[in-house]
Amino acid sequence: MASALSDVPSGLVAPDDVNGLVPQLWPESAHRDAAGRLVVGGLDAATLAARFGTPLYVVDEDEARGRARRTRLAFESAAAAAGTDVTVYYAGKAFLSGAVVRWVTEEGLAVDVCTGGELAVALGAGVDPARIGFHGNNKSLAEIDAAVAAGVGAIVIDSEIEIERVAAAAARAGRRQRVRLRVNSGVHASTHEFLATAHEDQKFGVSLDRAAELGARIRGHESLEFLGLHCHIGSQIFEAPGFAESASRLLAAHAELSAAAPVPELNLGGGFGIAYTAADSPQPIEDIARGILDAVVAGCRERGLPVPKLAFEPGRSIIGPAGVTLYTVGTIKAVPIDGGERRYVSVDGGMSDNARTALYEAQYSARLASRTSAAAPALSRVVGKHCESGDIVVDAEYLPADTGPGDLLAVPATGAYCWSLSSNYNHVPRPPVVAVREGSARVIVRGETIDDLLARDLGLEPTAIDTAATGDAATEGTPA
Ligand code: LLP
Repeated sequence: MASALSDVPSGLVAPDDVNGLVPQLWPESAHRDAAGRLVVGGLDAATLAARFGTPLYVVDEDEARGRARRTRLAFESAAAAAGTDVTVYYAGKAFLSGAVVRWVTEEGLAVDVCTGGELAVALGAGVDPARIGFHGNNKSLAEIDAAVAAGVGAIVIDSEIEIERVAAAAARAGRRQRVRLRVNSGVHASTHEFLATAHEDQKFGVSLDRAAELGARIRGHESLEFLGLHCHIGSQIFEAPGFAESASRLLAAHAELSAAAPVPELNLGGGFGIAYTAADSPQPIEDIARGILDAVVAGCRERGLPVPKLAFEPGRSIIGPAGVTLYTVGTIKAVPIDGGERRYVSVDGGMSDNARTALYEAQYSARLASRTSAAAPALSRVVGKHCESGDIVVDAEYLPADTGPGDLLAVPATGAYCWSLSSNYNHVPRPPVVAVREGSARVIVRGETIDDLLARDLGLEPTAIDTAATGDAATEGTPA
């Protein structure tokens, strides 16, 4: 198969073993069984596909729990060495469901939400409201009221206008609401680079040079209790230096505010990166935690400040690597293009279950999941079933040259921002989410049916179309 294509991502090389599972991409439980099938959480891909259908979001519960625990311990031990303590919030925007909320809270994490809908999930899953942080750059008055009424542990004030809104809501409710102030440190980071400017051109937070003034304004409200500053510098960041730079900038404003009264906390957000392809190698979370804490300790020492209590909000690094999406291959095409031909492998999902490739040009990896193959690696592009040429799941990956209709493909590292960014584009129902652990599987979010989608369209006549026949057969994950 010709593969002299000029747009192969740097870092993608033909693997020695096209069936091999690169460890940093897969849940620790992933391996191939004697029949060559991919096994995750003790269940093989063919069994999962037969029971629940494809596309299928599979989440390895032990992997998610293990990552939550490891992240908490990494920050706790770095904080203890610095003489302080830390709260690690799970950023629910990455993937929020009742089951996942229970796993992470059982592993000692608090929960960060950013809409009324996310708040409802966290409360519905029984999270102690005092362990919920509420974000958002444009919270509605109803959302603010709901968060105050629920008794959330902190509301992150994102703009000047919101100070009065939250203060008024708390006063009306007869509560003293704990708040943080989100500032924009001018540091923006992605992967292993960060950009540090005076002001960052984005919608979140207030500029750092107004932090002291607005913090004082918050303190002027009887109904508000000022916890400290908050900053989130970006996402999918592999190393500590961007966080460290941002923390030291924040500490200047923290020091100014501390001159008037103690500032108990500093929240440095989330954004820790994960490996999506073999070319990605994020620093271990323990090293990142130590790197950030070192910068905080140095900044505090320089200014003669006590080290504040810290908070972090990782989402992707907890749940991303716990997720694997299974697809069934439908068609294969070899399309002649300049310099060779592109092999298109079409699967039964696409940008509706993983928008990240289309949205961010994100790179993913894939493996044949229902069998191994002795065929040579062939450079392939995995695409979905949507009416859009940008409907790409995996831009470039070496798959066995004999990959064909009916084969199962698995895409690793899909636990974060895939289900949560999913859509019904082209009236495609969302797949179910199945949690696997020690050989058992449980549907944690049921799949949608075409009837679910039609039920909200008030312009439809009762129809003779058998919707069950136009969709896929009912499965355990998507009952009819
Ligand atoms: N805290 C705040 C205030 C945030 O805005 C975010 C993410 C997080 C925590 C969690 O960041 P994480 O640890 O998951 O990187 N949809 C994009 C990512 C958007 C992140 C938005 N904010 C993607 O799929 O790459």
